[in-house]
Amino acid sequence: MPESSIVVQPDQPGSASYLPSARLDTAGLPRAVALFEQAARAVPLYTPPQPIVIADYGAATGYNSMLPIGAAIDAIRERTRVEHAIMVAHTDLPDNDFSALFHTLAEDTDSYLQKDTATFSAAVGRSFYDQILPSNAVTLGWTSWAVMWLRTIPTEVRDHVFVAYSTDDTARAAYARQAASDWQNFLAFRGRELRPGGRLVVLTAAVDDDGEYGYQPLVGAILAALHDLIGTTLISAEEVRRMTIPIVVRSEKDLRAPFAPHDRFEGLAVEHLEVFDAGDRFWAQYQREHDAAAFGRQWAAFARASLFPALFAGLDGGRGDPRVTELADRLEQSVAASLADAPQQVRIPLAAVVMVKRQPTD
Ligand SMILES: C[S@@+](CC[C@H](N)C(=O)[O-])C[C@H]1O[C@@H](n2cnc3c(N)ncnc32)[C@H](O)[C@@H]1O
Repeated sequence: MPESSIVVQPDQPGSASYLPSARLDTAGLPRAVALFEQAARAVPLYTPPQPIVIADYGAATGYNSMLPIGAAIDAIRERTRVEHAIMVAHTDLPDNDFSALFHTLAEDTDSYLQKDTATFSAAVGRSFYDQILPSNAVTLGWTSWAVMWLRTIPTEVRDHVFVAYSTDDTARAAYARQAASDWQNFLAFRGRELRPGGRLVVLTAAVDDDGEYGYQPLVGAILAALHDLIGTTLISAEEVRRMTIPIVVRSEKDLRAPFAPHDRFEGLAVEHLEVFDAGDRFWAQYQREHDAAAFGRQWAAFARASLFPALFAGLDGGRGDPRVTELADRLEQSVAASLADAPQQVRIPLAAVVMVKRQPTD
């Protein structure tokens, strides 16, 4: 199965619940943006006419990239002349909607292209589990909500859609092996692409020190909704069994593993690593407004946009199966109703990691 393509973003401008501050509410983004800004202040910069290259790995529509990349550009501009060229490479899988990305870059009021005339953008449609930019070219790398998606589904998870909650030890072990190998590959290629002294900031799903994997009420509601539909003409038990969301949550130990025992891997060293709970903004709204239906609706809409496409790969006809729209409608309604019936906070443990590529003198 090809890797999944999903979009996690706060309410879009124009939607009923949009607030200007909503953009930075995207889970975990403010913390990671602050780290990216610090990184932009610390990296060695080329002298002109060499451009400064920033890479955005797993950009999707680019909507959630505008603030981090813009913050880094602002920090760099405190150290350069205004005409020193900055090149931003937005990368994603070949099937990503790159037209949407180019529209974001051209039209979004937060787009760096609208603010800084010496910035330029390019797009790369290749998996970040390979080398996709030239060696020693990238000064700053950014990736949010992307490296949790595995390169491939390692095996079936028979009892759950989310391996973290499976009781199948064999499946858990296969996912853990795939996750370890994907993380090593991701780092190895970024280690090549970064310039000495360059920094990479990663925001990704994590398991916290208490063993909290997160998303439990949501994935529980999805699993229950799928089981309720078995026996209807919409889905078979066999298809439900094949359905999985190929996301992994990594512990601090998993994230540090490639760096053992000498604190370096492919020229990279971990400069900062924190695991934190990003906070459930739909829950915060529910606590203010006590609107359980809205709480259910918001999480169900998120699940439809972000998680259902991965599940539908398990249908006999894959994501193009003619039942997809009706199934998505039914699942969304059912997930919304069950979350509205018993609203519970969704925990979102995340890790923010800053890595630096060592300089030859280090
Ligand atoms: C949830 S979106 C995150 C988008 C954005 N970075 C954000 O923070 O909202 C995950 C993105 O990662 C991309 N992605 C997943 N696996 C990838 C891979 N192997 N190579 C490149 N992009 C990948 C997906 O296609 C998707 O666009």
